[in-house]
Amino acid sequence: MKNWLSFAFIALSFAACNSSQQSDNQTKSDTTNTDTAAVAKVDSIGIFLPDLKAKFPTPETVVVADDPVFHQKKTYKAIPLQTILDTFLPAYKNLNRSETQIVFECEDGYNPSMALEKVLSKKAFLAVADVDAPQGQDWINPTKEGREMKIAPFYIVYTDVPGADVSYKWPYNLVKISLSAASKELAVLFPKDDDTQVKGFELFKVNCLTCHSLNKVGGKMGPELNYPKSVTEYWKVEHIKQFVKAPSSYRNECKMPAVTHLNDKELDAIVNYLQYMAKHKI
Ligand code: HEC
Repeated sequence: MKNWLSFAFIALSFAACNSSQQSDNQTKSDTTNTDTAAVAKVDSIGIFLPDLKAKFPTPETVVVADDPVFHQKKTYKAIPLQTILDTFLPAYKNLNRSETQIVFECEDGYNPSMALEKVLSKKAFLAVADVDAPQGQDWINPTKEGREMKIAPFYIVYTDVPGADVSYKWPYNLVKISLSAASKELAVLFPKDDDTQVKGFELFKVNCLTCHSLNKVGGKMGPELNYPKSVTEYWKVEHIKQFVKAPSSYRNECKMPAVTHLNDKELDAIVNYLQYMAKHKI
């Protein structure tokens, strides 16, 4: 709680001293704290990257041996993420890194987050251009299952993380970076009164929350799964599991990618947790 208060204080002072250069969506330092609908945004500090592009330090050339989005070796013009934070979010140095999440907000609603400590322990970069793009263009857009993916304006890459390590997020189409206190944001989703649901909560957090919200907390790429009606109240459990494993066997041109790395027990834990959350709506 003590850390939490100091975090809120920093968020406020940061907002105050930089107010001249902030556009409305550059920072969502919520000072009201009373609006439960905005709970995911409360007490976070953030930067809207396109607005800052003109002030970016000169990028360096970095090579990614096995890029998980392009599935090949790639070369980018990129700026160390650490430099971006040092320059535009200096308040992060005062935060307790192990309790802070870095949240990446993409234009398409994909909203992954990671522990700040984990990201900064590797060579993470904000890629601003693809060196192999045709002249006059910053990016090449790869296609996935017949659809073109938009990489612009920015893309997070690592030079020392294997592409296959799914615990690292590589968000493209990135527009905003914000920092928020991990515990606070997720506290509302933690199964406080039922230990047996913790595993399901953890699995949902890592595999689903980046795209789906529960009680309005989480990503916006996919539909909210708990409020006002839980998906477990209108779908049979078996179908939820089947859908997650193969969404396009249910819906044509489904925008949810198949989740193939979870086994049946893990999927059961997620569905049980969703049933638990159905009884804990906001
Ligand atoms: C990369 C983003 C992404 C991830 C990760 C993701 N989903 Fe989805 N999900 C979507 C999108 C987008 C849809 C809407 C699909 C459509 O209708 O075209 C969806 C739809 C669903 C639906 C159908 C809901 C309804 O009412 O129609 C369920 C259930 C679901 N997802 C569960 C999950 C679970 C459980 C996980 C984690 C194991 C998960 N999803 C991970 C993006 C994602």
